Amino acid sequence: MDRKFVLTAFAYALVGLALGIYMAGSQNHTQHVTHAHVMLLGFVVTFIYGLCHKLWLNNLTTTLSKIQYYLHQIGTLFLLIGLFLLFAKTFPENVIGPILGIFEIMVFIGMLLMAVLFVVATQKTDV
Ligand code: HEM
Ligand code: HEM
Repeated sequence: MDRKFVLTAFAYALVGLALGIYMAGSQNHTQHVTHAHVMLLGFVVTFIYGLCHKLWLNNLTTTLSKIQYYLHQIGTLFLLIGLFLLFAKTFPENVIGPILGIFEIMVFIGMLLMAVLFVVATQKTDV
């Protein structure tokens, strides 16, 4: 699990940095919000989930940890694609907004589940 999270994090870093370099070079900053979220949600948060698995969760692969993994990965990927399309003005906001809402909730529940996994994994057993 840690390896899968960290590898996807690096993939987002490369995409996000490429977008940053394009923005800097072209002086066209319309995608700066997309760039910010590819770097922070795609790279930083995904990397932190990898660290959580490595440091505290012992890379456990339970049903809950698999659900957490897929909620974060699917939610993040489609949220970022949606942001890109929104700022590229491919679709109007009232069309894409509600669709983004689904993926925002997936990302949110992914974070909630990671908090649950962390609490369970670090609970003291000697009560
Ligand atoms: C090759 C490296 C990078 C380049 C060329 C680059 C380029 C840019 C550019 C041109 C902007 C738009 C600034 C604006 O219009 O206000 C921006 C914004 C931003 N970048 Fe990067 N970036 C790079 C790396 C990173 C990294 C490593 C992170 C985070 C891990 C990051 C996070 C952000 C954030 C959060 C914003 C939005 C800031 C705001 O609120 O205006 N960037 N970047
Ligand atoms: C469900 C996930 C998320 C949603 C739906 C979301 C939504 C938004 C929205 C609507 C904005 C304002 C964009 C604008 O100015 O037009 C924003 C800005 C920002 N968000 Fe998020 N966000 C999410 C996750 C995150 C995470 C995880 C981080 C950091 C770890 C983050 C960091 C930022 C930053 C730094 C800005 C300012 C970027 C800029 O002005 O370019 N966001 N976000």
